[in-house]
Amino acid sequence: TKTLHELARESGRYFGAAVDNPELADTEFADLLGTEFGQTTPGNGMKWYATEPQRGVFDFTAGDEIVNYARANGLKVRGHTLLWHSQLPDWLTSGTWAADELRSILKNHITKVVKHYRGKVFAWDVANEIMNEDGTYRENIFYKTLGPGYIADALRWARAADPKVKLYLNDYNVEALGPKSDAYYTLIKQLKKERVPIDGFGLQGHLALQYGFPGGLKENLQRFADLGVDVAITELDIRMILPSDETKLAEQADWYGQVTDACLAVRRCVGITLWGYTDRHSWIPAVFPGEGAALPWDENLRHKPAYDAIRNALTAA
Ligand code: G3I
Repeated sequence: TKTLHELARESGRYFGAAVDNPELADTEFADLLGTEFGQTTPGNGMKWYATEPQRGVFDFTAGDEIVNYARANGLKVRGHTLLWHSQLPDWLTSGTWAADELRSILKNHITKVVKHYRGKVFAWDVANEIMNEDGTYRENIFYKTLGPGYIADALRWARAADPKVKLYLNDYNVEALGPKSDAYYTLIKQLKKERVPIDGFGLQGHLALQYGFPGGLKENLQRFADLGVDVAITELDIRMILPSDETKLAEQADWYGQVTDACLAVRRCVGITLWGYTDRHSWIPAVFPGEGAALPWDENLRHKPAYDAIRNALTAA
């Protein structure tokens, strides 16, 4: 039987799953990741706290480990992430920076990290989670000190460091049509108009059964594609209130199928990445106590109904 990635590849797409470094030591997990999927994203290994733990001192150990694993198993890699308000190193968050100095810190970080991974990652989440729910800019350290222009600067610095890599903005709660996705639509349209390098929009896809399926997902993907950028589902998982039961697992399966269908319906939707693939390794129980069971494989790496739903959607395409 074909793997999910082999099925996705038939329409020129990838099907991937994220991995956090410690999980590679779980050989049963790593083997299945390497065979079933064609793409991976480091869950933490390329974030700022990992790559520049001291100012000007770069450490690519964690990211390289995943790149090497991916190469050995024929997976391509999305780089995640150059700029985010979370998981920044202490030296950066505890400092008070004049605009010029912070700008040069950001430029140096982006330049060094992108150059290091040139030819090894096919895409970068250049800026992650830069909007609030109401569509205003998130007041992260960069926004507060540099103003909204830091986003275009970051994209330009990334492009200068690697002319070929695909440059993405990436966020959660942007799957539905609404104020947050509207804000990205407006921003990307403006960036395009100003000839700022922007190649893609990543919709994380951290969904939860109790909040309902994101309305207009397919139309939303299509409107970004129509701006002339790629779109991707970058961190898909669909959590539920525990305990799981047959009804919830069936609804979850239906949602996984719907997300897959939506991507397949949009020519510029280049692929889908699960945020991990098994309930054995998932960020959710630690962050949302009482919720989980979000992935298509259970703790014992057995297929859940969601797996069949993804498979069916990919096969029908
Ligand atoms: O590194 C420490 C380790 O030294 C310590 O022993 C351990 C004990 O808790 O914590 C480790 O740090 C954890 C880190 O992951 C590495 O495992 C943090 O506590 C934990 O908060 C952190 O969680 C990550 C989270 O981002 C942080 O916001 C998740 O693994 C990661 O999957 C998650 O990924 C994000 C995406 O980057 C952006 N979109 C949302 C997504 C889910 O939150």
